[in-house]
Amino acid sequence: MFTPEMMESVKKVEATRASRLGMEPRRMTAEEKNQLLREFHPDYREEAFEEIKVGPNKGQKANKELVHMLHSNSRLWKDHVDLSKIDYDVDVLVIGGGGAGASAAIEADEAGANVMIVTKLRIGDANTMMAEGGIQAADKENDSPVQHYLDAFGGGHFAARPELLKKLVMEAPDAIKWLNELGIMFDKDADGTMITTHGGGTSRKRMHACKDYSGAEIMRTLRDEVINRGIPVVEFTSAVELIRDEKNQVAGAVLLNMETGDYLVARAKTVIIATGGAGRMHYQGFATSNHYGATADGLILGYRLGAPLLYQDTIQYHPTGVAYPSQIFGALVTEKVRSIGAMLVNSEGEAFMHPLETRDVSAASIIRECTARGKGVTTPLGTGVWLDTPMIEQLHGEGTIEKRIPAMLRMYLNYGIDMRKLPILVYPTLHYQNGGLEIGGDGFTKVIDNLLVAGEAVGGIHGRNRLMGNSLLDIIVFGRDAGKAAAAKAKQVTLGTMNLNHVTEYAKELEAAGLDTGDVSPLLLPHYARHER
Ligand code: FUM
Repeated sequence: MFTPEMMESVKKVEATRASRLGMEPRRMTAEEKNQLLREFHPDYREEAFEEIKVGPNKGQKANKELVHMLHSNSRLWKDHVDLSKIDYDVDVLVIGGGGAGASAAIEADEAGANVMIVTKLRIGDANTMMAEGGIQAADKENDSPVQHYLDAFGGGHFAARPELLKKLVMEAPDAIKWLNELGIMFDKDADGTMITTHGGGTSRKRMHACKDYSGAEIMRTLRDEVINRGIPVVEFTSAVELIRDEKNQVAGAVLLNMETGDYLVARAKTVIIATGGAGRMHYQGFATSNHYGATADGLILGYRLGAPLLYQDTIQYHPTGVAYPSQIFGALVTEKVRSIGAMLVNSEGEAFMHPLETRDVSAASIIRECTARGKGVTTPLGTGVWLDTPMIEQLHGEGTIEKRIPAMLRMYLNYGIDMRKLPILVYPTLHYQNGGLEIGGDGFTKVIDNLLVAGEAVGGIHGRNRLMGNSLLDIIVFGRDAGKAAAAKAKQVTLGTMNLNHVTEYAKELEAAGLDTGDVSPLLLPHYARHER
């Protein structure tokens, strides 16, 4: 339950609710948004960034926590691995067991390739599983992929790589059809029409959802499909280094059995990095909505082999992470809560912004309210603003919250907060890495032959800010295409002798730059993981 101080503020929220029910707060102008972002978005905090001193993005900046990992050495710098002893030999190696990895594996299998998934936790332990609000696709009569493109391009500050964004929006309707046919239980009207809603920055209602556990429903179905097809999944095993051959093409990966500590060698004609996000790096000390294993592994693996990053300096802070209660601090409060009518309100009960501005603008606006304007609500772990959830039932009728966002209702009821009757406290949480490894429209990295990337580990699909529902979409579109492309390419590949020369080369580069962090990368598990066995 809330503290007496919080309840004082709740009274102010309740006092203004009736007057807010019929109103739509003004949208900010482009100039207002730019100024707000510059002053309050974490991507603009210069002191949080550092220059990268080695590798393909040398001279560019990234959050200090990522730079530290890029400046750290490989686990294999000191440990010897015998590459002549091959434990797995496949056409397509998929690193990562989330939505992108599973989609890739399904399509590679469909194309007849010998494919294997390796994942450091269990299949489905991924950000996909935790996605809530939905997946975008312009598949209704009043909408079009062009409209979808324009929304996403503007929302991403016109920085998305056009060939990637075009693929995303053009293939979106087919992605929904594929998922529907696999058995996803999308929300539908009685006549079978998909129910679609708005998200921040969308000009049409194109968000398809499975209540407020869309990602869990999608991952459940993809996981079933992987299992039903008999695709091998090696769990609790991390890829710690990619392997090359003398033709400088990728040739597999060194794996670490997380339970025994043993190294294993996977030889592969093509490799797909589908390792997901980086929330557990806790950039700038932010809490996160991400799953336990989100530690940017794929970025490190690809980078050390020479693949450049794109937009590694831009991170998405979801505007509405849980600010209270402390036990679930940072957990996601889906944007759908705002899509269906809840407003963001400060400690005085004032609506300080339009609830469906794009995510970076919304996050910056909340941070401004809590800092410069001093209108946040104090919590045990910081501050927050109100998300006025009782408005939903007043706008759409009793029972709407239970019907549309049941998981959210249950999560708060566990802590004695009934969001149908009381507003909830939120603050931005680290949600998504906008940047990642650079790929071409065919899904392959541009400099390492036969290496593909799919899902959140890709940079450039969304530009410098992503709209809600375009991530669940990109894991399906880019995952499926990567699986097809990798399977086709594997037919033409002949592998040579494998080596780990790049590990030595990278170590020399670190030494020449005078860098010795004393750590190894990728991180694999967050720094607060229990390591004893
Ligand atoms: O708010 C949400 O439900 C998150 C969706 C997304 O990141 O796409």
